[in-house]
Amino acid sequence: MIAQETIRQILNHIDIVDIVGSFVKLKKRGANYLGLCPFHNEKTPSFTVSPSKEIYKCFGCGRSGNTVSFLMEHEKYSYVETLRWLANKYNIEIEETEASPELKLQQQVAESLYIINSYAQKYFSDILFNDDEGQNIGLSYLKERGFREAIIQKFQLGYCLEQRDAFAKKALASQFNNEYLQKSGLVVMRDDKPADNYRGRIIFPVHNQTGKVIGFGARIIKSNDKAPKYINTPENEIYIKSKILYGSYFARQAIDKNDECLLVEGYTDVISLHQAGIEHVVASGGTSLTQDQLRLIKKYTNNLTIIYDGDAAGIKAALRGLDMALEEGLNVKLVLIPDKEDPDSYVNKIGAAAFRDFVAANKKDFILFQLEVSLKEAGNDSSKKAAVVNQVAETIAKMNKIEDFTRQQDYVQQCAQLLGIEETGLHTLVNKFIREKISKEEFKSAQKNTPPAKLQQQPAEPGDLSDETFNLLFQDELQERAIVRVLLTYGAKQWAGEKTIADYIFEDEIDEEMFKNKKVAEVLKIYKEKNREGQQLSVADFAYFEDSEIVKLVIESTNHPYELSHRWNDEDRAHTINKAIWELKYEEFSSKVLYNKNAASEVFLYNVEDNYRDEADGVMVYLKLKKIKRLILLNEEDLKKPTSTAEEIKHFQEVHMHLKQMQIELGNRKGTIVYPF
Ligand code: CTP
Ligand code: MN
Repeated sequence: MIAQETIRQILNHIDIVDIVGSFVKLKKRGANYLGLCPFHNEKTPSFTVSPSKEIYKCFGCGRSGNTVSFLMEHEKYSYVETLRWLANKYNIEIEETEASPELKLQQQVAESLYIINSYAQKYFSDILFNDDEGQNIGLSYLKERGFREAIIQKFQLGYCLEQRDAFAKKALASQFNNEYLQKSGLVVMRDDKPADNYRGRIIFPVHNQTGKVIGFGARIIKSNDKAPKYINTPENEIYIKSKILYGSYFARQAIDKNDECLLVEGYTDVISLHQAGIEHVVASGGTSLTQDQLRLIKKYTNNLTIIYDGDAAGIKAALRGLDMALEEGLNVKLVLIPDKEDPDSYVNKIGAAAFRDFVAANKKDFILFQLEVSLKEAGNDSSKKAAVVNQVAETIAKMNKIEDFTRQQDYVQQCAQLLGIEETGLHTLVNKFIREKISKEEFKSAQKNTPPAKLQQQPAEPGDLSDETFNLLFQDELQERAIVRVLLTYGAKQWAGEKTIADYIFEDEIDEEMFKNKKVAEVLKIYKEKNREGQQLSVADFAYFEDSEIVKLVIESTNHPYELSHRWNDEDRAHTINKAIWELKYEEFSSKVLYNKNAASEVFLYNVEDNYRDEADGVMVYLKLKKIKRLILLNEEDLKKPTSTAEEIKHFQEVHMHLKQMQIELGNRKGTIVYPF
């Protein structure tokens, strides 16, 4: 581990303009610097770097961060890689600290496994190219399938001899530890003696993000009913199946360039497509995608195109990952390969150029595709069709990121058309699922130990649904972020007397459970602990957290376009605008935000500096309202209990009245305050 002192030194040296400026051409503009955003295509610059705040923000695509997150995002470095890169740049010697004994042991095992794998990869490749059996059986098989030498070498393929223990013997003679050899999966004990696990198989090394070999897939050559087609490395310190995307090391630059990631099933599909010049491709290894794999893709691009066999099993496998991909905010497209072929065989059959054309011409939108498939299945059966409508509404409701909002609207429109139903009706249904999902989550976090109560469903009026959706979707997120902003920007300021804003906010016990955004809860927890010692944290204290999600949250919550303007300083004007925002109709607001970013930020262009007490108060009102809402729900449960006596019912009703009264009073106060985002 890099010593804290070294990290401090590195961070002290950072000059954001210098670092970012070496990747982006920057021009000075007032106190800030301006350039063309490196994260999205634009003709007029909207990428701003603030040297005083040590952050960047693009007002076009919304990306923001500090020097470290810039390097992580732009260069795809890990946190540690970034620190090492900076240390090297500034000639800072890196001091490593002692790791804990368990961590040390784990690192030691991992290190040994890397060394064994690297040794084995070279050994198997050597056999493939230079040994008689390797050439006659392994290499000739690969060549017969159309793989050329350059691609075999690039992917470091190999061959394992049919002998019982050719590799094991050699590895043991080279002083490799038998226990680690077994852990690596290369060697197994057979009749109490070490033996090769991949005998007579083609070896596909699996690389991690930085190109190190973490494991192998070993393919049988002659098909055999008894033996499995592939033997894969068992899970160990470095081979963690749920996090592996085969080919990602060779694909990362092409994915960036194409702003798309193709997903296929197998090793041979990846390699054949590479050979055809299609390099932005990774494989899932035949199982459905995990969340970790989706996040890995999301690091590089938002566009995922799944290329699977067109048979029923292929389609099913593809559909399995859909909901999760949507929840991660990925844009999913599907290409189905016809005639019982897979990408590998198909590209070999029709050639590279035709394959590219085929993919481009046959990209289907995933949600619409799923809808078509289910509609076909349902036929004229009306109850089945109703189930399809429900299913598609539930799928659309899964898109829950703030930036997915327009997409969601588009889908409602397109799906309603395909289904031949009213758009508003589908809207209602989607909203119902969103509401259910949110209530479920809220309840789960609010009442861990109480059985979930059935929530009252408020029937939504068609017509003003979007308003409600908007609130349901984003209000909590915005409010929660407002708390982070208030604390980090005004926490140390005076509330009244000796009391700071932070003291005021933490006065009542804040239940971290009630935050939907767990990172917000984490920030509050850290803040609260420091506050107890009399220290109020600021943005800078969080700017270099290792958890990049926290860094992002903190920066996004505290850095807004409206800060740039001081045009509307006087309070009356600010209040008028606050009021205007509250009264703003959803459609107006939404179209401004979504289609005309400038107009939308105009609305928010006012100076909040002087209103910090109002803001802090607003945050508290929000927290209290949330708490009251929870109490009301609990009380409703009590009210519905069939066993209550008349006296108890009367009591519950009084409690209810009381809570409602508090809710109304607080709600009235809320009306005068706005929480810009
Ligand atoms: N797979 C596996 N174990 C098996 C079968 C398959 O791990 N017994 C994984 C492998 O990662 C394989 C992928 O699932 O690459 C897809 O399987 P399949 O389509 O059967 O294999 P291909 O890679 O297409 O191999 P080939 O083209 O040689 O048939
Ligand atoms: Mn195949």
